Amino acid sequence: MGDFRRNIKKGQRVEYAIYQIMDHFIGRARVFKMFGKRRKKFYHNLLETLKKSGEGKIIPIDRRKDLSKEEFFNHYVKKGIPVVMEGAAKDWDCVKNWSLEYFKELHGKDEIMMVTDQSDMKNYETITLGEVLDNIRSGGGKYYRFYPLLDHHPEHIKDFDYNWLLERRKGFTFFDSFQLFIGGKGTVSYLHNANAPNLFVQTYGEKNWVLYSHYYTPIIDPDPVRNIYRNAPFRAKNNMPFDPFNPDYSPPNELYKYIDGISVSLQPGDVFWNPPFYWHTVKNGSDSIGVGYRWVAPFYSFKISPLYAFLDLFAIHPPIWKSYKLVKKDNNLVHLAESGKLDSYLKEKAEKEKLKKSQINVA
Ligand SMILES: [Fe+2]
Repeated sequence: MGDFRRNIKKGQRVEYAIYQIMDHFIGRARVFKMFGKRRKKFYHNLLETLKKSGEGKIIPIDRRKDLSKEEFFNHYVKKGIPVVMEGAAKDWDCVKNWSLEYFKELHGKDEIMMVTDQSDMKNYETITLGEVLDNIRSGGGKYYRFYPLLDHHPEHIKDFDYNWLLERRKGFTFFDSFQLFIGGKGTVSYLHNANAPNLFVQTYGEKNWVLYSHYYTPIIDPDPVRNIYRNAPFRAKNNMPFDPFNPDYSPPNELYKYIDGISVSLQPGDVFWNPPFYWHTVKNGSDSIGVGYRWVAPFYSFKISPLYAFLDLFAIHPPIWKSYKLVKKDNNLVHLAESGKLDSYLKEKAEKEKLKKSQINVA
C-alpha cells in the first residue's frame, strides 16, 4: 500500500488542534462567535495549501496472506497502519456456519433493541431478531449494528479463535466486546472514528470501506466527541456527511478532493485491522455479517492521537468509563445514553419483563 500524502502544514495542524480543544471546552457555536473570521481565513489558506499537491487518490489497502504476528506488531500496529489479513479466519466456525438463516433459526425469537438513526441517535426500535433478518433478506433496508451476540449467547465464543484475537493485543489493555453488524446490500455506516482498536472479522458476504487517516482531521472538522466516537459532520446541503463512495465536492466538502483515502473490500474469512481514530465509512456490498472485536488500549490510543485520546477523557454524554461499561453489554445502550433515552428505555424494558413474568405465573 502506498503511503498517503502529508500535505497540511505543521502550523495548520497545530492551529486546528487548538480549534478542536476550544470546540470541546467552550462549545463550537461560541468559538465561531469569537474566532469565526480567523477560522474562515484558516480554511481559505488550508484549501490553497492542499491545492498545491493536486487531487487526492484512493489507495487499495495492503492485503496480506499469512502475515506474521511480529510483522503485524512491528509495522502495522506500531505505526497505526490498517491492513487486511486475508483469509485469516477462514477456518473459524463463524465463517463456516454463519448466515442470515443460521441466526434466524437459532435466535430469531430474541427481542433486540437497535438505534436506527446515525445522526443524533434519538430513534430506536425494539423488534425480534427474526423480523430484522426477514427485513434484510427482502431488501427492506434495515441495518442491525452492534448486535451483542456474546452477551446474549456466550456459547458463540467457540465460533472464534479467541486466542488468535487475544494474541494480537499488546501492552496495557482491558475490556473487550464482540459486536455484530448485519445488513443488506447498500446499507451504510457513515464516516466516523473511535478510540478503540478493532480487529474486524468478515464472516458472511461482502463489505466495503473507505478510510482516511486522522492526519486529515482538519478536513473532516467534526463536532466534539459524543462519547467514544466522532461522526463526520452532517453539514452539507443534503444534511448528510461526506460520502466517499459517491463523492460530492461542493462546499462544505471541497477539501476532501485533495486528500488520500484507503479502500478496503472484505470477503468472508478476512480479518481487518482498523487502528484507533482512523476515519472510516462502510457500505455492505451484499447481505453481510461482520464482527468488530474491540478492546480498550488507552496508552496505545494516546500514542496514535494524543489530541483525541485526551479529549475523549472529557466526554460527557456519557463519560468514557460509563460508555465502556455499557459497550460491554450493548453499544446501542451507549447511543441511548447519549440521546438521554437510556433511563426510559431500561424502565420500559423492566416493566415489559415484569408483565411477561406475571403472565407466565397466571398461566
Ligand atoms: Fe466504526
